[in-house]
Amino acid sequence: MTTIGSLSPTHWYNLAADFPEPLPPALHPATREPLRAEDLEALFPRALIDQEMSTERFIAIPEPVREVYAKWRPSPLIRADRLERALGTKARIFYKYEGVSPAGSHKPNTAIAQAWYNAQEGTTRLTTETGAGQWGASLALACSLFGMTCEVWQVRSSYEAKPYRRYQMEVYGSTCHSSPSELTEAGRAILAKDPQTTGSLGMAISEAVEVAVAHQDVHYALGSVLNHVMLHQTVIGQEAIAQLVQAGVEQPDVVFGCAGGGSNLAGLGFPFIGRNLTEGTSSRVVACEPAACPTITQGEYRYDYGDVAGMTPLLKMYTLGADFVPPAIHAGGLRYHGMAPMVSHAVDQGLMDAVAVPQDEAFAAGLIFARSEGVIPAPESTHAVAAAVEHARQAGQGETILIGLSGNGVLDLPAYEAYL
Ligand SMILES: Cc1ncc(COP(=O)(O)O)c(C=O)c1O
Repeated sequence: MTTIGSLSPTHWYNLAADFPEPLPPALHPATREPLRAEDLEALFPRALIDQEMSTERFIAIPEPVREVYAKWRPSPLIRADRLERALGTKARIFYKYEGVSPAGSHKPNTAIAQAWYNAQEGTTRLTTETGAGQWGASLALACSLFGMTCEVWQVRSSYEAKPYRRYQMEVYGSTCHSSPSELTEAGRAILAKDPQTTGSLGMAISEAVEVAVAHQDVHYALGSVLNHVMLHQTVIGQEAIAQLVQAGVEQPDVVFGCAGGGSNLAGLGFPFIGRNLTEGTSSRVVACEPAACPTITQGEYRYDYGDVAGMTPLLKMYTLGADFVPPAIHAGGLRYHGMAPMVSHAVDQGLMDAVAVPQDEAFAAGLIFARSEGVIPAPESTHAVAAAVEHARQAGQGETILIGLSGNGVLDLPAYEAYL
């Protein structure tokens, strides 16, 4: 029998099977009726559409995907004893480090799966959006492994500030455009209104979706937000459960993950929430979002579009409004107006908490972490580190804290400069 927690998971874990109340469905943007599988066929392969709508508890990971995962997975679970000493905390701190993937973050966990299912259906090209570039680089990597190419629209503020990720995408044989671009109707309309815009993930999604819908042989891939993306990331939490048991920890008291669209947080946190619901554990899972884009802590829980142009299905989620353009913070991957429907539902059901972290506190914590543990966290990941550091300073004896370190920051070093 499959259980939640394994050093080498054979299945992804689907929290949709264990939610006390069912997940509200995505709606068709024109009819406002629940989405049907056919509605998504222009964008995604059938297997991913099935996963998007599935309430099966465990979904088998295809062997070729597991073979690629095995190149760097299980990712390390590391006791942050030097951070513990630096903080003088009574708590034990662990971090689950996804920065060891070839792309430098957790994003390949879903990129590999999505590229493989698309390749199986004969798709030769994928389009996508990216913020900081971690997702674009991950999908470019995955496409190169399965004989495809990928066309990426990167949010303008990050495209200009972070050229190395673009080079990374190009090394893997993909192309990267600054978004909004003149290449799409959505991009041209946004530029006509605001030529100086910094761009946003919502804008870049509109561009990538438009191109995929217009071409038969092109599909679209999303790096976060959707149910199948949350599903693929659950290898993180399942490994962490088994690794903690090896370290003598039955359950962490609190789990911190940064949240942009919600995928690394869900990947780490959902298996723990699943155990809370089915095995009687009581780990608290906390979404750590940027104060400049406080989707859960300040947004509304309602149906909204995933993009600016209103081309995507309507998703029930915490949202700041599809036209919200977040300030150009360094954690480009956290600049999203919405939050994954599964994460939003978990918060709404009281299964998960959320905090907002100001950018200066995030980088201050990132520096403490780098100077004690050696690993330089991605700007996104520093939000989880900051919330964990604050918690650790007041933690009681014997508490166990788990941090999701979603990526490394070695290609984001200019972001640290202002905080040195
Ligand atoms: C390292 C890293 N962490 C976190 C995120 C945020 O995305 P998500 O909330 O889907 O994990 C990103 C997005 O690009 C990222 O690159």
